[in-house]
Amino acid sequence: MVSKKRLHFQDQSLSGTISVPGDKSISHRAVMFASLAEGKATITNFLAGEDCLSTIAAFQKMGVTIERFDDTVVVESNGIQSLQEPSEPIDLGNSGTTARLLMGILAGLPYHFSLYGDASLSKRPMDRIIVPLHQMGAKIDGRDNGRLLPISIRGGQLQPINYHPPVKSAQVKSGVLLAGLLAKGSTSVTETTKTRDHTENMLQAFGARLQTNDNQVTIEGEQSLKACDIEVPGDISSAAFFLVAAAITPNSSVTIQDVGLNPTRTGIVEVLQQMKVDIQVNHQRTVGGEPIGDITVNASSIQGTTIDGDIIPRIIDEIPIIALLATQAKGETVIKDAEELRYKETDRIESVVNTLQQFGAHIEGTHDGMIIKGESQLHGCDVHSYGDHRIGMMIAIASLLVEDEVILRDQDCIAVSYPQFFDDLQKLLS
Ligand code: S3P
Repeated sequence: MVSKKRLHFQDQSLSGTISVPGDKSISHRAVMFASLAEGKATITNFLAGEDCLSTIAAFQKMGVTIERFDDTVVVESNGIQSLQEPSEPIDLGNSGTTARLLMGILAGLPYHFSLYGDASLSKRPMDRIIVPLHQMGAKIDGRDNGRLLPISIRGGQLQPINYHPPVKSAQVKSGVLLAGLLAKGSTSVTETTKTRDHTENMLQAFGARLQTNDNQVTIEGEQSLKACDIEVPGDISSAAFFLVAAAITPNSSVTIQDVGLNPTRTGIVEVLQQMKVDIQVNHQRTVGGEPIGDITVNASSIQGTTIDGDIIPRIIDEIPIIALLATQAKGETVIKDAEELRYKETDRIESVVNTLQQFGAHIEGTHDGMIIKGESQLHGCDVHSYGDHRIGMMIAIASLLVEDEVILRDQDCIAVSYPQFFDDLQKLLS
């Protein structure tokens, strides 16, 4: 049975200070790299969302000792060579990051692996990572001419490459660099636009030799990693929902503490500024090698804008909630160069446009983005998350603007990235 939630907020505003859970991208990488490293690593403020739990389960199946106590995870490993061939297929759940990064690691291990995911992940393109791994000599095959899960990997010795990914994807960059860690010689990835760099940063924290030069990253092969502790900053992609909620809900003022402010992720702050939202970033500091700070947003008079080009990879997960913000802006907002949205947990051009239209917004999809005409009075509706966590949270925030009731179907998927989302929303409402 699909879950269902009735949302009825009627003129309530949001106020207060909260912390959001740990960053999803960093939580995945912390478990993966600690599993490849020698020694014991303690990860604090780990995101215990379903995606990151899929990553933990995958490495447990390969014999790594991983224990979790709420948001603290302890990983103990004897290094890459100690990983074992799993006796069962690995379930990747809904997680694209687990899929693409794990493939890079498994391609270089001398075992057989079989990988599968849920219905959404089984539709998402895996050729973007399989193509470079094939060039490195990996043996990988899957459904639909090797493009889709389920996939099987016969790992082995890899050759280094110098790869120029045709898609702007941190997952692809990371998967190739991880395969490079196991290859003989130096592997480089050169991007046209820099994507999130948590892999590069964290591999260095684990003692890897790696050089970055503009948009090129080079890693030496056949290195071993040494365990280190990781404190995960708050996820700016989760914070984005409440930052937008505060901007669009009259009389609101919200502070999100300890949010990750890695420059490859802060596009949302720039977009909010560009749209004239009253936003301040305070108390900036560095924790565990990543910049963090507190972000405050007050209810604002919002202006439409154009969002395109190099900023897109830096806001890719925030576009659904930015689209909602644009429905409350004066004038037109145009989002371009974002075709990558079509390859997320859903086709997010289609799912965002269909959902916001049901709320009464003036929004149209284009081949690589959307055009939104503000400001719209949103109304109640009966809508589906399509099983996409970020669409589910966008719907919940849109409901704050609606006089009557909104029915949100399939809200359980929100646990993929933000299991306590409704508890945090409640804290800001009361
Ligand atoms: C992620 C990269 C992004 C993002 C995803 C997490 C990562 O995907 O959408 O939520 O952790 O590397 P792409 O790199 O495929 O754009």
